[in-house]
Amino acid sequence: MLTLGIESSCDDTAVALLDNNRLLINLRSGQDNIHRIFGGVVPELASRQHLTALHPLLKAAFTETNTSIDDVEVIAATRGPGLVGSLLVGFSYAKAIAYVKKIPLVGVDHMAGHILSVFLEKKTPSFPYLSLIVSGGSTGLYLAKSFTDFECLGRTRDDAAGEAFDKVAKLLNICYPGGPEISRKAETGNSNAFSFPRAWLGDSLDFSFSGLKTAVRNKVTLLRQQTSSLPIEDICASFQEAVVEVLTTKTIQAAKQYKIKDICIGGGVSANNSLRQRFLCLCSEQGLHFYAPSIEFCTDNAAMIALAGQKQYLLQKKTENLLTQDVFSRSALGQ
Ligand code: KG4
Repeated sequence: MLTLGIESSCDDTAVALLDNNRLLINLRSGQDNIHRIFGGVVPELASRQHLTALHPLLKAAFTETNTSIDDVEVIAATRGPGLVGSLLVGFSYAKAIAYVKKIPLVGVDHMAGHILSVFLEKKTPSFPYLSLIVSGGSTGLYLAKSFTDFECLGRTRDDAAGEAFDKVAKLLNICYPGGPEISRKAETGNSNAFSFPRAWLGDSLDFSFSGLKTAVRNKVTLLRQQTSSLPIEDICASFQEAVVEVLTTKTIQAAKQYKIKDICIGGGVSANNSLRQRFLCLCSEQGLHFYAPSIEFCTDNAAMIALAGQKQYLLQKKTENLLTQDVFSRSALGQ
């Protein structure tokens, strides 16, 4: 079954073709260069760029795989959550093709895509498994019971983890997106140099990163008054350590609470090396199995949307009439 995946929830335009379990192509056109000067995603610019990028990307996908729209049996497009303008471009485009070519259309929750992204790899978890999704727009911990049944166990009460990385980067004058650069600088820094707060929130599996971000801002303001050169590497390492410690501790706590053996991660922040290493280490200590998708499937991509849409289509064996349906900015999965 050839599934066409279309993703446009934020600032990445992406198209993929999945033939049953075989990924034929996974193309992505990023917009970092457009948004960098603003220090974050500008929604209107993002939507306009999706309009420009989407059609050429789809044509390239068919050309490079020697396929055509007539070979496609199902179209899976991200319906939400995300920026409404961005979502409307990809979803309306998918609706138009589905209508003209009479191809079934499946609307996919972006979070479901991230939760299932690990199935694009050879080594896959068993249901039920825990999935920590950490990106620029969301942070949540999920219990994945099947390919279509997910329960949100906890989520951020304020900033997403990636948003905290990007905001801390901005105040250190590190360019957008800040996560990769903070992680690079942290490699040569001392993670014990500064003691930044961890929001444990009692026994809750929710997260909170806004207090941490404020604590870093206060420390940077103080240091700027005291010294002319900031210990940037130490700040990055200490900040990153606070994020990694909370994310890993709460996930392991959930695994014990729900008696789950398999732990997966996904979303842009799951590319973070320190986070991956800590999970590997803690999981091996606790007798748990850790699964992480390769980097191309961590950031926003259409392969995971094709996969989630294909599973949804096969399990539900029918599609709702999506031609009259709209996109959504917030997910029923709690983001
Ligand atoms: O899932 P994603 O591609 O899309 C959005 O949610 O928009 O995630 C992007 C986020 C950004 O906040 C970026 O700073 C963060 O993921 N990120 C990282 C790393 N690579 C990307 N954060 C920490 N360490 C990284 N290596």
